[in-house]
Amino acid sequence: MEAAGRRGGGGGFFLVVLAALLLALASGASAAWSHGADAAGAGERRYMDLALRRVESVRSSFGARRDLAATASASSSRVYHVTDYGADPTGGADATAAINKAIADAFRRPSSATMTGGIPDLGGAEIHLDGGTYLVKGPLTLPASGGGNFKIHSGSLRAADDFPTDRYLIELSAKAGGGGGGSSSMSYYYEYVTLRDLMLDCSYRGGGVSVVDSLRVGIDNCYVVHFGTDGIAVSGGHETYIRNSFLGQHMTAGGDPGEKSFTGTGIRLDGNDNSVADVVVFSAETGIMVTGGANTISGVHCYNKATGYGGTGIYLKVPGLTQTWVSNCYMDYTSIVAEDPVLLHVSGSFFLGDANVVLKAVNGVAKGVQIVGNLFNGRDKGVDIVQLDGKFATVEQVYVQQNAATGMTVRSTSARGSVAGNGSLWTVDFSPVLLFPDRIGHVQYSLVAGDAFPGHTLRNVSSNQVVVATDKAVSATVHVLVDQNIS
Ligand SMILES: *[C@@H]1O[C@H](CO)[C@@H](O)[C@H](O)[C@H]1NC(C)=O
Ligand SMILES: *[C@@H]1O[C@H](CO)[C@@H](O)[C@H](O)[C@H]1NC(C)=O
Repeated sequence: MEAAGRRGGGGGFFLVVLAALLLALASGASAAWSHGADAAGAGERRYMDLALRRVESVRSSFGARRDLAATASASSSRVYHVTDYGADPTGGADATAAINKAIADAFRRPSSATMTGGIPDLGGAEIHLDGGTYLVKGPLTLPASGGGNFKIHSGSLRAADDFPTDRYLIELSAKAGGGGGGSSSMSYYYEYVTLRDLMLDCSYRGGGVSVVDSLRVGIDNCYVVHFGTDGIAVSGGHETYIRNSFLGQHMTAGGDPGEKSFTGTGIRLDGNDNSVADVVVFSAETGIMVTGGANTISGVHCYNKATGYGGTGIYLKVPGLTQTWVSNCYMDYTSIVAEDPVLLHVSGSFFLGDANVVLKAVNGVAKGVQIVGNLFNGRDKGVDIVQLDGKFATVEQVYVQQNAATGMTVRSTSARGSVAGNGSLWTVDFSPVLLFPDRIGHVQYSLVAGDAFPGHTLRNVSSNQVVVATDKAVSATVHVLVDQNIS
């Protein structure tokens, strides 16, 4: 009742009360109304209740008529129900043209208001999928004239068996869209477009969603499955936020017998300033492929294809300018690979089943890298928590430290060690723990020799071994701290 009252609106309520009074008079309840005032008691309350119920029933039927009217005149409502356009919500007949027609109507601008760079403001227009499943033989495309402040939501799309393998179920692309090309003066075509509560079944044909040259796109609570290429692909533009979503080539809850042959990529970020948060990639050869900078990845659970089968959880293919931070992720048998990492942060993440971080040399540069405070769990096979693939000639500000591991080999860029004995040469071998071979940038040592007072010096730091020498044989303990960074 409370909600109905709010929905009605002031003027409507007045009319409704009037209608209820007329109805009450017509149905002979007028006696109850006129006598009620002086006949206090149970009878009066009963009649009052009756009258109130009538008011309620008139109000709700009035409300229903209002809804009907809103649906019928699409010109006043900006909610476009695809079933009103003849789209078959049972998934039987091809609905591509019907849904694209609804989209085209939603892109008729309600006013001359614009968003960034002249993108037409569509005033919050919605394509409502009415909780149905729709078969599509081709992509849903947005008009090349561009638009923003727009949503597609609440239903399922399934690619037909002849869906083109190089397209996506939903394409935010002025090049792919109707009319072709868009306005050449525009840098961005779509802004604040939201795709929400959608199940996208690509039927092993193309991909799920493609976002091209767009700004501030939200993909929220979507389930993208059976993609042949990518679940979601973002290129150009910025600020596509992919949240609370699930992506997988195959529907599996892990341990799939076909895991070795998984292909495709869950999410492809070929642009800047995007965010992937609270997302699961449950099957694909690569979970997330990043080829642009300044992207955030957090709370992602990757169990797409085990690294042992040739899969990768997160692949950062931006050598020399990574600018990516990965936090609170769960890398479940799938690793993170970063080519020539420059400005990379990985923290607070859990790596299971010998999953690790691989730094892959392209030009051999690693700069500004923090891999700190992560947990690793392996199977006692001696796998390094952080591993080098190739030789790094430039290593600056690389901090791999404070990670904890069981069943794996901890690698670090700083370490401490001690050696005790009687003699004139003390050697602490850091090669089992230091990440980069033959690289000690900084050493600090102390020699504890009881009552003795020998002369001593740092003799050698090559091959990640620290050698301290005394000028005479003494019984001593030498404590050493090393760091692979120079400063
Ligand atoms: C340091 O030790 C390496 C072998 O580990 C040796 O080749 C090198 O000559 C030594 N350098 C000095 C200055 O003693
Ligand atoms: C250390 O070794 C020397 C001989 O090399 C011996 O004279 C001395 O007693 C030893 N000191 C200790 C504490 O074992």
